[in-house]
Amino acid sequence: MCPVCKSDIGLLSWPGNKIVCRNCSDSFQSIEGIYQLISTDRLAKYEMFLDEYTRIRIAEGRGDHGNDYYQRLPEPSASDPLAWQWKIRNKSFRALLSALCLKSQKGKKIIDQGAGVGWLCNRLAEMGHHPLAIDINMDDMDGLSAGKNYDRRWPVIQAEFDNLPLADDQADVVIFNASLHYSTDYYNTLREALRVLANDGKLVIIDSPIYRKPGSGIQMKSQRHDFFEKKYGFRSDSINSIEFLTWDMIKDLGNSLGITWNVIRPWYGLGWAIRPLKATIKRTREPSTFAVLIAKRS
Ligand SMILES: C[S@@+](CC[C@H](N)C(=O)[O-])C[C@H]1O[C@@H](n2cnc3c(N)ncnc32)[C@H](O)[C@@H]1O
Repeated sequence: MCPVCKSDIGLLSWPGNKIVCRNCSDSFQSIEGIYQLISTDRLAKYEMFLDEYTRIRIAEGRGDHGNDYYQRLPEPSASDPLAWQWKIRNKSFRALLSALCLKSQKGKKIIDQGAGVGWLCNRLAEMGHHPLAIDINMDDMDGLSAGKNYDRRWPVIQAEFDNLPLADDQADVVIFNASLHYSTDYYNTLREALRVLANDGKLVIIDSPIYRKPGSGIQMKSQRHDFFEKKYGFRSDSINSIEFLTWDMIKDLGNSLGITWNVIRPWYGLGWAIRPLKATIKRTREPSTFAVLIAKRS
């Protein structure tokens, strides 16, 4: 679907990696197999975010470690600086596979929203599914262009969550994998995801931080930006991402979007489980929790 005029008559591939809307004649590009279906105006809005985000992520130890690094995800080598974080990510991923029976079934059309380097698409393709990667980030170490590190291929589109260049009712599953909290408006983002989801499809959110009290999320957000400012010299807040969920927000979104949530709480280990108790004893901020949130239309 054209991201500018929203017509779903179709996009035509032209020579020179050009893609043209049959309806409004707006043109887009494809670079190294990645369809850039976002207008230049919209992309400009993310320029500072993407620059700062990438600088932080590379400083944190993500980046080019060779093909093997990407192909192993979500199970990097034990010496990876973020191995502890991937352990949690891997547990969410395993819980997702089992909740949706993705290992025993095949051929599901799955949209990976905020796909980053595409590790989830790689794993899903390996299992015989048909993933599609959406992200605004083209970075070749931490964004869509890192997809060249895998042997398998899937459609890769540079586009926004809130403006998917896809016709209605197509996907079996839409997954936000550690990405929904970058949204600036959860209602709009999830409504757009539901538009492209087939009637009996599932909407999934994993690895977005969830709090009981909104104040805890607000506090986490300001602590994070203070930390970035101190360490990197910028706050990394050029787009107003919400950055967290609360159980009340999840409930309200369910009501306003007409969806019912199934909440799965993976076991992340004892250390993780006792974090709230430790915080109470130490009188520190409520820690975030993760859950696998699976929604279907009510
Ligand atoms: C923390 S990363 C997660 C990447 C990947 N899903 C993973 O699990 O490693 C969040 C991703 O969401 C993308 N993102 C943020 N806002 C977005 C938006 N409005 N539309 C599409 N992607 C977005 C970022 O560029 C980034 O790649």
